[in-house]
Amino acid sequence: MNRASLEKRPEEVAAMFDDVAPKYDVVNDVLSMGQTRRWRRIVVGAVDAKPGQRVLDVAAGTGTSSEPYADAGIAVVACDFSVGMLKVGKRRRPDIDFIAGDATNLPFADNSFDATTISFGLRNVSAPHQALAEMLRVTKPGGRLVIAEFSSPTVALWRTMYTEYLMRALPAIATKVSSNPVAYVYLAESIRAWPDQDHLAQWLRDVGWQEVAYRNLSGGIVAVHRAVKPGRGDRGGVGPVAKTHRTKPSGTAGPAGAVKPSGTGPTAK
Ligand SMILES: C[S@@+](CC[C@H](N)C(=O)[O-])C[C@H]1O[C@@H](n2cnc3c(N)ncnc32)[C@H](O)[C@@H]1O
Repeated sequence: MNRASLEKRPEEVAAMFDDVAPKYDVVNDVLSMGQTRRWRRIVVGAVDAKPGQRVLDVAAGTGTSSEPYADAGIAVVACDFSVGMLKVGKRRRPDIDFIAGDATNLPFADNSFDATTISFGLRNVSAPHQALAEMLRVTKPGGRLVIAEFSSPTVALWRTMYTEYLMRALPAIATKVSSNPVAYVYLAESIRAWPDQDHLAQWLRDVGWQEVAYRNLSGGIVAVHRAVKPGRGDRGGVGPVAKTHRTKPSGTAGPAGAVKPSGTGPTAK
């Protein structure tokens, strides 16, 4: 059985996802108690792709995060470095363009996509800053980025209950439903070690994304970050802005000023 360490060596991460690929979507639904479907709808709304636009879904895995665009007739490219995940996806959705590629060295030309998105993938990337810079490079000026990632529950009691679920219940449930339960120990550990909402917002600004904002889902279990690539004015609008937090560039007072240094462990806001 395969699991990656928190160093997230690319070959370990890819091998781990190769292993879980056949049952990935079923296990996801069980462990999230069906919440992933709602989270995904919100991501698609934020991407707000229009007919004729091209969307890049990075770390697309089996393509579950890419499907809604294809279903709506939007040209979507699903890119991932786990061949096992891509194979499961291609078998299920032969109409989607699945491309093997590393998020830190995307196999696309500059300014190729109207929107770039990554769902539950960035946390697994060994060099997330580099991936964010790559996503900026391949997105057209004025184009948008939408990231869905596990984050930090904002209310203390909810955070405590969620941490208990992550560290105790989730690995136990995974033992019953997954062929590779240790991969779900990695899932729990990597979520705990991932930076909070404001910290990720600062990473986006660090590499050059602008108009950075995020929305908490399920009390902050997941955050959806949005940003725009500087450039042309005609970006066609970003998705719904309800309930979002506009974040401020570092150096100003406000939430972004309270971010923790990179590489810190569980957030304790
Ligand atoms: C949790 S799955 C998410 C899949 C899909 N986006 C979804 O929402 O169901 C994470 C995916 O990230 C991919 N991944 C991790 N690091 C990557 C990298 N550096 N480049 C490309 N894909 C990567 C893994 O192979 C895996 O398929």
